[in-house]
Amino acid sequence: MIKNKVVVITGASSGFGRSTALLLAQNGAKLVLGARRENRLQELVSEITVAGGEAVYAVTDVTKQENVEALSQTALAHFGRIDVWINNAGIMPQGLFMDNDVAEWEAAIDLNIKGVLYGISASLPQMAKKQSGHIINLASVAGVMAHAGTGVYSATKWAVRAISEALREETAQMDGDIRVTILSPGAFNTELVNSVHNDKFQAGVEDFYAKVGITADRVATTIKQAIDLPDDTSWNEVIIRPTKQVL
Ligand SMILES: NC(=O)c1ccc[n+]([C@@H]2O[C@H](COP(=O)([O-])OP(=O)(O)OC[C@H]3O[C@@H](n4cnc5c(N)ncnc54)[C@H](OP(=O)(O)O)[C@@H]3O)[C@@H](O)[C@H]2O)c1
Repeated sequence: MIKNKVVVITGASSGFGRSTALLLAQNGAKLVLGARRENRLQELVSEITVAGGEAVYAVTDVTKQENVEALSQTALAHFGRIDVWINNAGIMPQGLFMDNDVAEWEAAIDLNIKGVLYGISASLPQMAKKQSGHIINLASVAGVMAHAGTGVYSATKWAVRAISEALREETAQMDGDIRVTILSPGAFNTELVNSVHNDKFQAGVEDFYAKVGITADRVATTIKQAIDLPDDTSWNEVIIRPTKQVL
């Protein structure tokens, strides 16, 4: 059950992170929110607390391991434990390999892969100690199929799925119940399209999202449902798309 669970969310300042924070807080979870935009985090914490919920934040750049560790320490200092850690922060660069945007490849790898690894590093040891916990990693349908232009983004999300499956096998053999969930969304209307900077792809992606995208709260509901399952039961991998999305 969600009530009283201590839930850490990276990338909580918009999109899935924000929507999930609001839904879980409404259901009695204690939220620990990380992202870079402090004003957004302040507004979200105040929205949650005004509505009677509990939340704190730490300004967090998940490409910096010390920031992610500090987010974990914020959770432990305020609430004494971490029950759920959601590795949600991410960007969606698009571009052909011939565009040769090496800086963007590196940014995606640092955020989408290393950020997830830092989140595991910051949460798994204390989950192992208390023999319970749940790590939820945001992958993507782009981590299940790749197309010309999605190569690097798809690679990062494929990596998230590989990391998560290995983590699942590892935690399944540990004492207690530590759950691992991979969530692979299709097109949901968030600020993610703003992370597409390649002008060959920008308009096409915006058009695609405008045509098929649905609201972020659908993903928040799915995350809530995954957490709500009994501790001995795990949704290991979920693909969630708008019904009208073909690919
Ligand atoms: N929306 C979709 O259709 C879709 C589909 C498949 C997968 N996903 C995945 O879902 C996750 C959430 O995306 P979203 O759709 O909710 O997009 P979003 O609205 O753009 O949210 C992304 C979040 O990540 C944060 N972020 C970006 N860089 C960061 C960094 N270096 N350190 C910490 N936080 C950082 C942003 O906050 P700050 O800028 O304040 O740091 C923001 O809160 C991503 O991993 C994305 O790949 C989304």
